Parts: sequence; structure tokens; C-alpha cells
Amino acid sequence: MHNVQRIVIVDFGAQYTQLIARRVREAKVFCEVVPYSTPLSDIAAKEPVGVILSGGPASVLDADAPRIDPAIYELGVPVLGICYGMQLTAHTLGGVVERAAQREYGRVPVDFDTTSPLFTGMKPQSIVWMSHTYHVTRAPEGFTSIARSENCGFCAMANPEKRIYAVQFHPEVTHSEEGQKVLANFLYNVCGCVGDWTMSAFIDQAVAAIREQVGPEGRVMLGLSGGVDSSVAAALISRAIGERLTCVYVDHGFMRKNETESVREVFTKQFPVNLVIVDARKRFLDKLTGVSDPETKRKLIGGEFVYCFADEAKKLTGVEFLAQGTIYPDVIESGSVKGSAVIKSHHNVGGLPADVKAKFTGGLVEPIRMLFKDEVRKVGEELGMPRDMVWRQPFPGPGLAIRIMGEITEDKLETVRESDAILREEVAAAGLDRDINQYFTVLTNTRTVGVMGDERTHDFVLAIRAVTTDDFMTVDWARLPYDLLAKVSARIVNEVPRVNRIVYDITTKPPATVEWE
Ligand code: XMP
Repeated sequence: MHNVQRIVIVDFGAQYTQLIARRVREAKVFCEVVPYSTPLSDIAAKEPVGVILSGGPASVLDADAPRIDPAIYELGVPVLGICYGMQLTAHTLGGVVERAAQREYGRVPVDFDTTSPLFTGMKPQSIVWMSHTYHVTRAPEGFTSIARSENCGFCAMANPEKRIYAVQFHPEVTHSEEGQKVLANFLYNVCGCVGDWTMSAFIDQAVAAIREQVGPEGRVMLGLSGGVDSSVAAALISRAIGERLTCVYVDHGFMRKNETESVREVFTKQFPVNLVIVDARKRFLDKLTGVSDPETKRKLIGGEFVYCFADEAKKLTGVEFLAQGTIYPDVIESGSVKGSAVIKSHHNVGGLPADVKAKFTGGLVEPIRMLFKDEVRKVGEELGMPRDMVWRQPFPGPGLAIRIMGEITEDKLETVRESDAILREEVAAAGLDRDINQYFTVLTNTRTVGVMGDERTHDFVLAIRAVTTDDFMTVDWARLPYDLLAKVSARIVNEVPRVNRIVYDITTKPPATVEWE
């Protein structure tokens, strides 16, 4: 990101580091997370207007604890240490850190010195979130305490002359009542930020950067899934280079109702690209005939998908760049201190065979790799993309195929596709589509007896699944209003063939998963 002010967040492995980054971005300041092992020269080269040292699980008193080059405090750039970052600052600059008599965890009332620029405009006392075993008992020379609690004389310390600040609590979590204010004060009062990180500024820069990377003649290929990330990436690249972008969309036949049509509409009219829609519906269905084991289904679909995509890539000539909708959490995770080497395969492109990858001699174009998911959605909105596409709920790669228990047939696909469309329509009509993180229908492989008119029926049981979650690692089932459930149920049994009974899935994850297969 050129021409915007930036904050560098040095990550010491805290679970909250990404949250700090999101809060800084919410304050309209661009920031980047780097591992603590990053050489100081690399940090300085980014020309940050401020540095934040994150929390972390280690103790500064351990011999092998993560350290920081002390010269960081001499860069002339403001520093804010948070939790471990505070203890590290104290320890590095000659203060004393000791094990506290008691671990402090949870909400703690703290008295703030509101004459400090870090706490300007705040109440003299408010609640903060603490989580620490060690604390500072003597500040380094030049520092004074600027916040206190009953058990801790140094809830925050400052050396205003050198513009070094540190807080023992976590301003980034919402339990800290005025946490966002503390971060904003650091950014605006101490670092002199102007708040130049806006999505429209991002779009202008991203478009210029794509043009620069690709050059006046360069051609790009992107795998389009219809999901938010690849769609927004495609829209940005379309804006930059128009039809020099080829998007390949594989229709495996397990898409939701109208999804393929919507992709066609958007990427031929609104964001014109060279769009290749591979109609592989028959090919996939044939491949899956007679298959009912969940893992086999997934493997067959994944394999066939890469094969289709690679086939198209091979056909394209003169395309040197491969584009991907990688987003920032993936980037942070893959280089994180926790050493997680998991790099997600983005829309299966990661799984491309080596000879296909080798085709793309120009390298990767990843226009949204510095954005969080909510920022990606904002960019989509700012670009004027359709609401359905921007606010699309997560949808698994194997699609509806894993929402049909047992063997997949065209009839069953129609049942699950139509019922899913009704559920989506009614949830949106009830104004709940942004509150419920994921919702869909599942066609069970069980038939029950029912009665319709004067006729006895023997049809399928269909389940409704709706969940709320922050991260999809754990989920709760959504408390959908009874009236909404009643309406959805009545509409589905009346309008969708082969269903005579509807049940609601009331299981959390764990022990269940979101998807049924
Ligand atoms: P589970 O069922 O594992 O789902 O609790 C968690 C989230 O991941 C999505 N999901 C997938 N996404 N490819 C994907 O891109 C897949 O194979 C896949 N399987 C599950 C699921 O929809 C939910 O949002």
C-alpha cells in the first residue's frame, strides 16, 4: 500500500493480534502484522508512523522468550506495547518485571491519568480486560505510571518524550470499555495519524498497483467461485485491465439456485472480463453416480474440479499471471509466530498441477491480500457489486453435493436447491440474513409417511440448518423465530417436490459440524 500511513504490529503470538490489526483498520489507519523475528531494518523500511508490540504467551523472564531489537525504541517512531509488549518494553529498557502474587484475569476497574495523550477524553475510571501472570513493578528510567488498579501500580506506563507507551490490559477486546479510544488516541494523538485508510482510497491504489504489476499488455487468469473473495478480486482486476482478465468458472452442477446466472450477469455486464463458464454438470454427476460415502464424494469432486480448471488453463495462451482471492487472515496465519504452515488452497488453485502453475511466469496477482473479510465486503459494496454477492454466506467447495445424504441424483439436487432458495428468501425477508452466519437445507436420506390431500405419501425428511458463530470453529444453532420456521416449512412442503416433513437441526458444533457430510 503506497501513500498511506501505516502502523506495524509486531506479533509475539497472542491470540488477539489479528484483533489489534482489525481495530486499527477500523480507526481508518492501515496496519501490517509482522512476526517478532522480522529484522528491524525491514520494519524501518516500511516507514511506519507507529509500532505496536502485541501480547504473547511467553514470560519475558524466560531465557528463550521472544525479544525485540532494543534499537526499535530509538527509531524515533512512537511505540505502544500491549500486555507482553509492555513487559518486554519494561524489561528491555531496564525496568523490573515480576511474577504477580495472583494471576489477573477478566474485567478490572482501572484509574487513568487522563492528562496523558493516550487517555485523553476518557473517563477517569473504567473497566479493562486483563489477562496476565507477570507485571511491571518498576518502570524503566524516563517512564511514569499512567494507570493503576487495586493490584497493579503499572496498568500503563509512558515516556512521553520518547513517545513510548505501554498498557498491561487489552484495549483491542470489547470488554475493555474504552479500549478503542485508547487505540485511537495512540494513533491520532501520539502517532499523528490522519485516517487515510478508506476503501475508496484502497480501490484507487489497488487498481494502480494491478496495472503496474501486469503492465500494458499482460494477461491474467483467475478461478472464480462466485464467493466473495474471488468475486471482489475479479471486479478489481476487471476495473484495472478489463478483458485482459480471463475468469474461469467451473459449474459443477452443485451450485445454488441462480448462482451461475448471477456470476454471468455481473462479469459480462458490470465488470466485463473474458468469462469462461465451464459447463461440467454432466461430467460431475456421472462421476458421482452410485457414490454415497461423504469422503469419497468430496475427493471425487475436488479432483475433478482441479482437472477441469487445469484443462481450461492449458487452453489459454499468452496468460502470464495467475490471480487469487487470498485475504489477510490467510497471509498472517501462514507466516505467523505460531509456526502454522497451513496455507489454504484458495478456490483449489493451490492444488493445480506443477506444469499448469509453471505456465504463469509473471507470478501471482493477489489484490486483496491485505484486507480482512469485512473490508473485502466494503470494497465490494463500494464497487457497486450486487448485495447477494457481497454478503454471500460461506458455501463449501463441494456445494450442494454434501447437503444430499446418500447418492446424488438430479431430482434430489432440485429438491435441495429449491428448498435452499426458499429458506434464503424468507430469512432475507425477515431481515435476518446478516445476523445468521450460515443457513441452508439438507436432504436426509430418510423417507417418512405423510398425508397430502387424501393421498398417503412416502417422501423425504428435509432438515434446516442455521448457525451463528464468530469463526466457524465453534457454532451455536440459530434461534430462528417460530413464525419464520413455520412459513419456511409450509412453503417448502407445498412448493418443493419429494419432501413431506421438515426438521430443525438444534445441535451446536462441537459435537456436530456445520455441514452434515
Ligand atoms: P464444518 O462442516 O467443517 O464447516 O463445521 C465449517 C465451515 O466450512 C465450510 N466448509 C467448506 N468450505 N470447502 C470449503 O470451501 C469445503 O470442502 C468445506 N466443507 C465445509 C462450511 O460450509 C462452514 O462454513
